Amino acid sequence: MTVLRSVVLGCGSYLPTQILTNEDLARKVDTSDEWIVQRTGIHERRIAAPDEHTSHMAIRAAQAALTHAHVDAQSIDLIVLATSTPDNTFPASAVSVQAGLGITHGAAFDLQAVCSGFVYGLATADSLLKSGGFSRALVIGAETFSRILDWTDRNTCVLFGDGAGAVVLDAQQQPGTPEDRGVLTVRLRSDGRYKSKLYVDGGPSATGTVGHLRMEGREVFRHAIAMITDVVEDAFKTTGYTAADVDWFIPHQANKRIIDGSAHKLGIAPGKIVTTVDRHGNTSAASIPLALADAVADRRIKRGDLLLFEAMGGGFTWGAALVRW
Ligand code: UT7
Repeated sequence: MTVLRSVVLGCGSYLPTQILTNEDLARKVDTSDEWIVQRTGIHERRIAAPDEHTSHMAIRAAQAALTHAHVDAQSIDLIVLATSTPDNTFPASAVSVQAGLGITHGAAFDLQAVCSGFVYGLATADSLLKSGGFSRALVIGAETFSRILDWTDRNTCVLFGDGAGAVVLDAQQQPGTPEDRGVLTVRLRSDGRYKSKLYVDGGPSATGTVGHLRMEGREVFRHAIAMITDVVEDAFKTTGYTAADVDWFIPHQANKRIIDGSAHKLGIAPGKIVTTVDRHGNTSAASIPLALADAVADRRIKRGDLLLFEAMGGGFTWGAALVRW
């Protein structure tokens, strides 16, 4: 019996043109290129122009994904935009993306799960497509973290960057085997006891201000690898796959040490890891689709490859997905 699967038709990304290097940052706060590279693997990140908003970048990434997928914007009936940095408190930035793409049918909404946003967005769109209520979705991760950083706090301002990435998902009947194309499983977790470890100290209801990102980096780091590997093992158990079956590991790009540590613990060979944290920094919900678009553009990822996504961040939230390209 065939089953409905969310098949990825294409992906795309957008990065703002302004590059902020570690040397640039060392002129603003008490830090150094050596410290940042050694502790995080980051060399540079992109910063949105003053008049460039999250929805603008999301539209550019969505257009690139539609072009790559060879489909028209009018065929999209669902837009899920994962972001913690929307243009405005409301309406959802997703409706600006919808309007920007000239779409007047279907539904568009934002989803907030911080750095895990893209994996949460994938799960949400996958469920809605499988329900039969929608047929083709854009899942977008887009962030302007530069707007919520405290640029005097060296603990956080060196870590993040701006950007957007998107995928087009199409509901298609597949044979119903582990070899099917599309989203094979998505596993999601959260634990609000950790909410004060990584948060923004403002918001519409609490303070009436936008606020700045605050993080106990060492505490986040302490939990990251265990949480990531646990949810990935869960995804393996659900599908029957193992680390050896994974062709490409496309993790959330927070810190090279977390990425390499997770891959090592899972038994994934270093040559299978897609890394962009060196050039993008941590772009939160945008980091996975940005890395995916990179590895698709340079033809590392090929049709039929098994992809493993994972992310962990504020909340804490975390999750993993197995997708056959
Ligand atoms: O995507 C969401 C999830 N977020 C993450 O995954 C981030 C997780 N955390 C991390 O990636 C790491 O904890 C950091 C990169 C944030 C920090 O690395 P660390 O090895 O955990 O360093 P630390 O926080 O233990 O700090 C070590 C030292 C401290 O000095 P003392 O107290 O040892 O004298 C810091 O004050 O490094 C100092 N430090 C810096 N020095 C130069 C902190 N930030 C900087 C900086 N430049 N930018």
